Amino acid sequence: MASRASHSSSANSVQPWDAFDTGWYLTHNYGTLRDDDQEIIHRTGDHFAATCGGAGRGIDVGTGANLYPALTMLPYCEELTLSDRASSNVDWLRREVMDYSALWDRYWAELAGKGRYSPVVDPRAALARVATVRQGDIFRLPAARWDIGTMFFVAESLSSERAEFELAVAKFVCCLVPGAPFAAAFMAHSHGYLVGDRTFPAVAIGVDDVARSLEGIAHNVHITKIATTAPLRQGYDGMILVLGHAGATAPGGEGRR
Ligand SMILES: C[S@@+](CC[C@H](N)C(=O)[O-])C[C@H]1O[C@@H](n2cnc3c(N)ncnc32)[C@H](O)[C@@H]1O
Repeated sequence: MASRASHSSSANSVQPWDAFDTGWYLTHNYGTLRDDDQEIIHRTGDHFAATCGGAGRGIDVGTGANLYPALTMLPYCEELTLSDRASSNVDWLRREVMDYSALWDRYWAELAGKGRYSPVVDPRAALARVATVRQGDIFRLPAARWDIGTMFFVAESLSSERAEFELAVAKFVCCLVPGAPFAAAFMAHSHGYLVGDRTFPAVAIGVDDVARSLEGIAHNVHITKIATTAPLRQGYDGMILVLGHAGATAPGGEGRR
């Protein structure tokens, strides 16, 4: 596992996370359902439907202003932790999970037709019942605590330090119990991103970097490059989706990659 990078102007610890403009980010990224997010939702929903047993504890790390990862875990969680470092995002999330806005209906509709999701007749009430929003740091996550997890556009988008990307991936995967299914998404070759009037850094990673970051800590890993007809912004090269299971090997069995 990589050690935490020392402080520098691009390190995670010195970014102005509390000034993250949640409303701008929400409108810009999720105001309309994009084709790449739509594909990610379907692939993630199918992965969890195929691999999840009963209900357990779920976590979405670095939730920001995105509720769709949480929605993909909804049928499988009796407790669902939404965790983010930015106080602006946490304040918004605490209000939003109580009665989420109509914007997310379009996202739930992508899942509602799938067998494991159709019994959830009132996803808005279900999320309000199971969700707990916590302000927290990915680098301080406890180990082996959750049974299912998601982390979307976080590890590569929290600093420009490659060691912090690798450590963030490891912290996310290792906060799950061995065997737990997870989904993680990444912006490929991102050079940083604008949120309102502030620019946040990124690490320019590709599929090979993602694969390397999971070596020895995850198994049954499937990595997909997600195409789009209309990029979200300039300065990146598509999205990467990883579906897999925590732990080097399946509990009681051989892991494969
Ligand atoms: C590019 S946004 C992604 C938000 C959301 N997951 C999505 O899919 O759009 C990166 C998120 O990482 C969060 N973040 C940055 N540093 C973090 C840290 N050390 N621990 C937890 N979250 C962090 C930010 O507050 C922000 O919400």
